[in-house]
Amino acid sequence: MTRIGTPASRVDGRAKVTGAAKYAAEFEAENLAYGAVVSSRVAKGRVVGIDLRDALGVEGVIDVLTHENRPRMARSKKAYEDDIAPGGAPFRPLYDDKILYNAQPVALVLAEDWETARYAASLVRVDYEQEAHVTELESQRDEAFDAKNSPKPRGNAEKAFAAADVQHEAEYWLPIEHHNPMEMHAATVIYEGKGKLTIYDKTQGVQNSQAYVASVFRLKQDDVRVISQFVGGAFGSGLRPQYHLPLAVLGALALKRSVRLVLTRQQMFTFGYRPGTIQRVALGAKSGGTLDAIMHDALAMTSQYEDFTEHVTNWSGALYKCANARYGHKLARLDLATPIDMRAPGGATGVYALECAMDELAVALKLDPLELRLRCYSDRDQNEGIPFSSKKLRECYRQGADAFGWDKRNGAPRSMRDGSELVGWGMATGIWEAMQQKASARIVLTANGHAEVACAFTDIGPGTYTMMAQVAADRLGLPLENVTVKLGDSTLPQAPVEGGSWTAASAGNAIALACEGVRTQLVRFARKVANSPLADAKPDDAALVDGRIVSKQDSSCSVSIPDAMRAANKERIEQEATAESNDDGKHARYTHSAIFAEVKIDEELRIVRVTRIVNAVAAGRIINPKTARSQILGGVVFGLGMALHEETQVDHRLGRIVNHNLAEYHVPANADVHDIEVIFVDEPDEIINPLGVKGVGEIGVVGTAAAIANAIWHATGIRVRDLPVTVDKILG
Ligand code: MOS
Repeated sequence: MTRIGTPASRVDGRAKVTGAAKYAAEFEAENLAYGAVVSSRVAKGRVVGIDLRDALGVEGVIDVLTHENRPRMARSKKAYEDDIAPGGAPFRPLYDDKILYNAQPVALVLAEDWETARYAASLVRVDYEQEAHVTELESQRDEAFDAKNSPKPRGNAEKAFAAADVQHEAEYWLPIEHHNPMEMHAATVIYEGKGKLTIYDKTQGVQNSQAYVASVFRLKQDDVRVISQFVGGAFGSGLRPQYHLPLAVLGALALKRSVRLVLTRQQMFTFGYRPGTIQRVALGAKSGGTLDAIMHDALAMTSQYEDFTEHVTNWSGALYKCANARYGHKLARLDLATPIDMRAPGGATGVYALECAMDELAVALKLDPLELRLRCYSDRDQNEGIPFSSKKLRECYRQGADAFGWDKRNGAPRSMRDGSELVGWGMATGIWEAMQQKASARIVLTANGHAEVACAFTDIGPGTYTMMAQVAADRLGLPLENVTVKLGDSTLPQAPVEGGSWTAASAGNAIALACEGVRTQLVRFARKVANSPLADAKPDDAALVDGRIVSKQDSSCSVSIPDAMRAANKERIEQEATAESNDDGKHARYTHSAIFAEVKIDEELRIVRVTRIVNAVAAGRIINPKTARSQILGGVVFGLGMALHEETQVDHRLGRIVNHNLAEYHVPANADVHDIEVIFVDEPDEIINPLGVKGVGEIGVVGTAAAIANAIWHATGIRVRDLPVTVDKILG
């Protein structure tokens, strides 16, 4: 009855489909006021005048806040730094007259209802003194500065490249992308009086939001409670407190009333995004298909006020065997909001370029693309010169290729057909970090055999409630139904933001550790039972199985949990534990994947259909194969969006994002998604952490766009190096 490794439906599934699960903008309060944000119309300059008369004249409008009349906020820029703020000075909404990017908030209308607030927001007239802005990445190639986050070079890549039998060098472009979760960013701030606030926030980290609000508004941390029990998607957009949060708090403090603020879909394009990048990859190889040189340079964008950086290029050297490698990462300052992590930040970006380049190199070498990967396979992370804690990528290649039928591929482009459609098969490798952050969990076990697990992590959708219940059920020997999980409340035991695919490892190991503490206590109690069969047992001699404390040496010796607790006169056992990464720098910690994609392209219309994807993943132990599979499916769909649909378009004359809606910013819809097969390769890992868990939230997206782009080349013979691959680029 082990629960780890068993497919389980979401324990919160019923609450979600019946609507019982409440999201940030759904909480009610007495005398609730509604906010609407007014966004700047210029990209750079300052506000020189705000005319509020028309807005204030609308019946039902309570007040309009601007930088001129808002309640006090912290002056120091430092006070606005959250847990994962990059270097620089964070944006301070409604702080002063400065305009740092187009559509930044410039006023907050507060009204008795949402429609009135929105209408009045359209009547706020703002005058600006405009300055010249820059929003185009390419124009800033020469102005860009070194991001100083590249791995150390090794060997002499320039020389090795120049001397290589076969060279491939090209530039790969990725546009800005926006996360576009279903749930808009929102906060409902309950004004409790006496400086106390309860905030229902759409966030990936309740304690991060709590600390931010306390810091910005000079409140006592304990007087700010942030709750986020359900999140309708975030993908990184909720890692940092976005401006909806401080603005909702400003409104509540100004009115001394509870306030709800929901951003519009258009306003979902007015903060973080995946930065656009231009990457140059140069690969030099021997004619036999081994790599001599890797050079990977990235140019990415950041704002004028923060230095947002990702790890874009380091994957190249970690993934493949190559004695000579050199990396570069430059940042260009643009008059846009600061980018933010978006699912597999940097990895989705860098591996796209690397894996397209590897495909092109395979063509130049007249090698099967999978065969090239195998010839360059590395059992060590060569950036660090250390082995992997585990790496079953070879198995991913083998099982993925088998399931896909890769051996039936004819390598020549335009060689495969299905009626009027060209058929293309492409593949790519994926890699992502396996991280663990310090986190705490508390378990309360009651004598009736029920356990409650509590942790401040927020379940942003991957199935954290379910996964945590499984770990506790497994380690406590209880049925899954006997475990309840409390999450997403800043008053619960410490947790960082949910992101980076680290929650399963971070929370899972904390829970497992807390369970050990519970077991230790139970064994001690069991010894007190009259004529106890466990009279001499030490904690490690017993396991918890089926509601009993059972001797590991002799399973006929056991005591039931209720009997043990009765013997000790205990109604409940409470145990809290904190787990941290055991990373001593001796092993590289990564998840890997092999993605195989089939596209079918109408020869005349050039419409691309991604008809089949097989994604074989090695991610250590999988706690819940059902929800983990969903994570990979979602990641693959993200990659499909990257490959074919997603592109944030900026009108550089205005410095303004123009396709800020779901009609013009395309994400894959149901009709775009066909057959996706997920394989989890068995990957025992005794090193990485006690549970052997690596996390699966992001690996599904990494490499997927490259596999599809490579398949499109195979179908058409046309190599597109700037995503998304839209029809116009493959008309041929
Ligand atoms: Mo993820 S981009 O760390 O939410």
